[in-house]
Amino acid sequence: MKVNKNFDNLVSNYLFAEVAKRTSDFIEKNPDKKVIKLGIGDVTLPLAPVVVDAMKEGADELGKKETFKGYPDYEGYEFVRQAVSDYYKSFGVTVGADEILITDGAKSDSGNIGDIFSEDNVVLVTDPVYPVYVDSNIMAGRKIIYADSNERNGFAAMPDDSVKADIIYLCSPNNPTGSAYTYDQLKAWVDYANKNDSVIIYDAAYEAFITEDNCPRSIFAVEGARTCAIELCSLSKTAGFTGTRCGYTVIPKELERDGHNIYKLWYRREATKFNGVSWPVQRGAAAVFSEEGQRQIKENIAYYQENARIISSAMDELGIYYTGGKNSPYIWLKCPNGMGSWEFFDFLLEKANVVGTPGEGFGENGAGYFRLTSFGDRDNTIEAVERIKKVLCNR
Ligand code: MLT
Repeated sequence: MKVNKNFDNLVSNYLFAEVAKRTSDFIEKNPDKKVIKLGIGDVTLPLAPVVVDAMKEGADELGKKETFKGYPDYEGYEFVRQAVSDYYKSFGVTVGADEILITDGAKSDSGNIGDIFSEDNVVLVTDPVYPVYVDSNIMAGRKIIYADSNERNGFAAMPDDSVKADIIYLCSPNNPTGSAYTYDQLKAWVDYANKNDSVIIYDAAYEAFITEDNCPRSIFAVEGARTCAIELCSLSKTAGFTGTRCGYTVIPKELERDGHNIYKLWYRREATKFNGVSWPVQRGAAAVFSEEGQRQIKENIAYYQENARIISSAMDELGIYYTGGKNSPYIWLKCPNGMGSWEFFDFLLEKANVVGTPGEGFGENGAGYFRLTSFGDRDNTIEAVERIKKVLCNR
């Protein structure tokens, strides 16, 4: 019996598990301190009322013989896929309901999508990067190469024609750096992928936070993307589904590689390994895309955007370089006074009792940077920012 030795190549702890462990150790040693967590991007506002009502109705339907549901369709119920397709239409992008699969979220999808690709593909990720793209490919034993995001390019890495990559993970608005690609920047990636026969796995989990018109909400807004891209999206950040779990993948029917239709491969993978999202959750998901659902979730997004503005203004006041906060719930900042990421993590935890995420955990280019989330409670966000200002001004 042998285990998958590729696991030996992983860092010992998943980043957010490490942050959670260090935080709980601190709380245990300092039970009198009120620790404010702006680390993991977990939402704090409740689900929209219209979503909760739909879920309750869904639960009631499961309790009656006439409306009971067993296994859902593998690709998700048609009415949910149609609702997603109509949502894309609302920002000018055409994707068919038959190109959408309902899933349990973008984290699982980005971790699982690799199942349909050969292990000898070269994977390109931008650095800093959401750790799931890297860890899941390490588990599969793939070679990973990095495109640098740094201050010089505003933490938005661009393709390099001298480099050959088969699978490219892009996330825009980016986790962790908060930068969002413009149309022209995405077009450059799309052109690269079409030219090199690569596939872009595009994580749009934060699309609802885009405020600038020149930053597309979907890669399928970009000419040429239908022949090279898969889009992953999620209701986690858009509608507070981090615990509820629902997302979707969009794969254009014409996307083919190596003589295979990519939608068909993903459908085959999902039908084999996943029994779908539960009926009450799919009912709730459809409600997110209703007119009233959109109105209600936009109120929550506006609340988080105001938190982002509060954090960004503090960085402006302190004269700290940062990206994000504008098209994104994340503020990616340069650690003050030349501190390292984990050094700043410990400093903030000990002196201000505020938790953030060390940039180094997202890759080499994250060293010396730090991520704060705007998904916290408003009062806590204000208090955290005041504490940060105080400890940095008194230093
Ligand atoms: C984050 O903090 O980066 C995210 O919440 C993690 C995730 O979505 O898995």
